[in-house]
Amino acid sequence: MSTSERRLRSSAWFGMADRDGFIHRSWMKNQGLPHHVFDGRPAIGICNSWSELTPCNAHFRRLAEAVKRGVWEGGGFPLEFPTISLGETLMRPTTMLFRNLMSMDVEECIRANPIDGVVLLAGCDKTTPAQIMGAASVDLPTIMVSGGPMLNGKFQGRDIGSGTDVWRFSEEVRGGKMSLATFLEAESCMSRSNGHCMTMGTASTMASMVESLGLTLPTGAAIPAADSRRYVLAHMAGRRIVEMVHEDLRLSRVLTRPAFENAIRVNAAIGGSTNFVVHLLAIAGRVGVPLGLDDFDRLGHDMPLLVNLMPSGEFLMEDFYYAGGIPVVVKALGDLIHRDTPTANGRTIGANVADAVCYNDEVIRPLDRPLKERSGIAVLRGNLCPNGAIIKPSAATPALMRHRGPAVVFETSEEMRERIDDPTLEVSENSVLVLKGTGPRGYPGMPELGNMPMPKRLIERGITDMVRISDARMSGTAYGTVVLHTAPESAVGGPLALVRTGDSVELDVERRRLHLHVSDTDLAARRAAWSPPAPTHERGYANLYVQHVLQADRGCDFDFLVGGSGAPVPRESH
Ligand code: FES
Repeated sequence: MSTSERRLRSSAWFGMADRDGFIHRSWMKNQGLPHHVFDGRPAIGICNSWSELTPCNAHFRRLAEAVKRGVWEGGGFPLEFPTISLGETLMRPTTMLFRNLMSMDVEECIRANPIDGVVLLAGCDKTTPAQIMGAASVDLPTIMVSGGPMLNGKFQGRDIGSGTDVWRFSEEVRGGKMSLATFLEAESCMSRSNGHCMTMGTASTMASMVESLGLTLPTGAAIPAADSRRYVLAHMAGRRIVEMVHEDLRLSRVLTRPAFENAIRVNAAIGGSTNFVVHLLAIAGRVGVPLGLDDFDRLGHDMPLLVNLMPSGEFLMEDFYYAGGIPVVVKALGDLIHRDTPTANGRTIGANVADAVCYNDEVIRPLDRPLKERSGIAVLRGNLCPNGAIIKPSAATPALMRHRGPAVVFETSEEMRERIDDPTLEVSENSVLVLKGTGPRGYPGMPELGNMPMPKRLIERGITDMVRISDARMSGTAYGTVVLHTAPESAVGGPLALVRTGDSVELDVERRRLHLHVSDTDLAARRAAWSPPAPTHERGYANLYVQHVLQADRGCDFDFLVGGSGAPVPRESH
């Protein structure tokens, strides 16, 4: 139904000629708004995750101004509002602890206010899924404008990438191959413009997910934050959201099962972050689209890696944009993509990419010359992870994809940090590092500790990778033969809790197997002797989190947030 045939939602606030209408309009007029903006035009919420504590989103006030210009031009009425923001680099113990809190903030702020359509402004890792989760549970017309990646880092005559080169430099310092002074000099060279991490880390993965789901205008994922075209995109999104309100193009009409399948395939082709899994599962849960862990493997395991970006490749997001960005990838995937899924601009994804041209086939490889034949995310099963675990083969060492070795177990991340460089630690390149207590409930918040550091003495011998297993996540900018998201996690009594140093652990990615070579009898005896860790949080949000968070194979949403409640709020406040 178009808006000529139905009342706008905001008219229940602004369209009344009574006492309540007076209150709703009068206080708004203290901002200098003339009476005619309450004439029945769409009220567009601009949901802004700006914060100086989230440096990746620090330019969002300017971005919001560009959106507002577009909204006014399109005949709408922009209303910017803040939400909590989640800065990946500063927040402790981990931003993932607060993703669901942010989604609640976004959901309730949208629903409680006179808003007909929403523009979401997100950038840093968790801000993107949190906003989509919250908005999806309200289900108004919604479009996202991501903040865009930073320009390429430049250091000593070469490009360096957010995160990926931090991990590399840090290991080089620990191995004595880089001086501390050189390491510290790289700081200002890596992050030299506004924007989020410019590797294909989690932020770029999330922005690409948004574009492949159809929730932003074409090319929205890759335009650098410092490029004026990012502001043109924001302006055009402001214009477009007004049309989306008139068309009643709600999130649930875009977020269909085929759109999720497209996102999984695109994520494989771009070498996206493993964090994609928990976030996409959580978003699907909000809109009631059935999606399981095995869908990621089934749809993504035979996908070629086309995009040559760190950490799986060598280039960065700025290069990706100049090469053509996500539209080129979607076009290259041809029939592997559902081309008739609707997108925010009113056209199908197939129509949006029909004229896409690749300008650099080293950055975006053609289908017949991929960077790697197989990409995607492999879902492992076995007695160590009955509900699954994941690994990103494109970031792993091929020789370790089939490996059996003795476990070196750390009960906590603190123990791991304390002992990893201990010269007396019995560890070799054949060992399998096992870290417990880093899952959703155990930490709590499932931090990005899965790519635990290599033991210093192995680095000094030139060893750069070994098999590592945990119930944690991993930074999207990281790499290595790292098994993540083991479910159930150790803190709830998953089999990971029962592993002991010296146990033989077998990883076989080709066969999707993760097996602990301990007899069922011995495991039963260990289970009988196991007791859960003492609760660490007795009050506050962390306590709520621990009580209600779902396991990684279900996206780590809260059990009571799955699904949506729509937009209606029938009761008045006065
Ligand atoms: Fe914000 Fe990487 S730290 S995107």
